[in-house]
Amino acid sequence: MQKVGVIPGDGIGPEVVKEARKVLDAVSQKRNLIFEFEEFPLGAKHYLDTGEVLSDETLQRLSKKDAILLGAMGDPRVKPGVLEKGILLRLRFHFDQYINLRPIKLLEGVPSPLVDTGRKVDIQFVRENTEDFYVGLGGRVKEGLSKTELELKRRTYEAKFEVGVDLEDEPELAFQIGVITRSGARRVLDFAFQLAKSKKLNLVTCVDKANVLTEMYGLWREVADEVSMKHGIEREFQYVDAVALHMVRTPERFRMIVSPNLFGDILTDLGAAIQGGLGFAPSGNINPSGVSMFEPVHGSAPDIAGKGLANPVGAILSSALMLEALGHKDAADDVERSVEDILKSGKHRTADIGGKTATSKFGDAVVSNLLRR
Ligand code: NAD
Ligand code: IPM
Ligand code: MN
Repeated sequence: MQKVGVIPGDGIGPEVVKEARKVLDAVSQKRNLIFEFEEFPLGAKHYLDTGEVLSDETLQRLSKKDAILLGAMGDPRVKPGVLEKGILLRLRFHFDQYINLRPIKLLEGVPSPLVDTGRKVDIQFVRENTEDFYVGLGGRVKEGLSKTELELKRRTYEAKFEVGVDLEDEPELAFQIGVITRSGARRVLDFAFQLAKSKKLNLVTCVDKANVLTEMYGLWREVADEVSMKHGIEREFQYVDAVALHMVRTPERFRMIVSPNLFGDILTDLGAAIQGGLGFAPSGNINPSGVSMFEPVHGSAPDIAGKGLANPVGAILSSALMLEALGHKDAADDVERSVEDILKSGKHRTADIGGKTATSKFGDAVVSNLLRR
């Protein structure tokens, strides 16, 4: 039996998670796999009703699960960052999900706004998920002398910062600190090169901006070189701006990309555009020896929430990534094939790609294909 914590979240989150669960129920019926789902009503409503974002007790309960399935966080009624940092990032950090795996695959039958039909795009994108400019260290200081104490706590290390600022001739300054550690870089690069090896790919593209952010990404490059040597797999370094250009012009040249956190966030939305839109992109926040969390790349899309317009493919494919991580590769492939079949047939298309199929009808089509095949 697999225990899955489900966090539907805000906006279209609950709508797409519902479809992913339908598909998992079909998998369970077909393959005799048993899932025990427990829902956690976190998000804007819970916060506005109770003032609580995410309690230690909820973290404790989630830590007993085999995996977490999440919809999306964020609501226009709540100040940006409260739910995104307070729930999503806290979960990623708390469970030390240091790998954010975001495969970028253009499926047959999906019109991409960036890539002509018939071109093959299949990129394994690995985004670092616990460091970089996401560590949440920063402050705002006013003119004069000030001192700010900052603390970074991770499962594997702790770092304290004391930032003294003497600000002259300027009323206010805001700063944000980015952090890369040697072991933080090593573990995610190791995962990427290992994944390349297992997929028989002979080149890993390492993203950075080492020409400007020389300290952080200088260390990143040093470690990438060591890891590339260790695995005997070639690496290339590319600056993030150039990667953006090449992803638009010749995405087929990339098969394995590994990126620091912030650039990975941005490039994977670009990757989603290549895939046909945000609704198609799945992701896994992975801790290979802990609790991993699976969610579509998109956000809560308040502009289309509650109208049956959401594309559930990203969420359904995220549940396939979850199946694979839980050791059910055949079941994961089965789900992927069903999604591919439906898209290829062209009979069911959600509104984001100009179709008329409602969110739940798309899920139904995937379920009946899965049970038929
Ligand atoms: P978004 O991903 O929610 O939406 C961007 C655009 O893509 C919108 O036009 C939306 O309608 C469309 N879109 C997204 N998912 C879709 C789907 N499944 N089907 C069809 N169309 C889809 O990004 P945003 O508008 O920048 O952010 C909205 C909220 O979501 C904010 O509060 C933001 O912080 C949050 N957010 C959360 C996550 C997450 O939970 N992982 C990710 C990104 C943004
Ligand atoms: C994503 C989102 C999150 C991120 C936000 C909502 C914290 O954009 O999952 O891509 O930046 O990682
Ligand atoms: Mn993002």
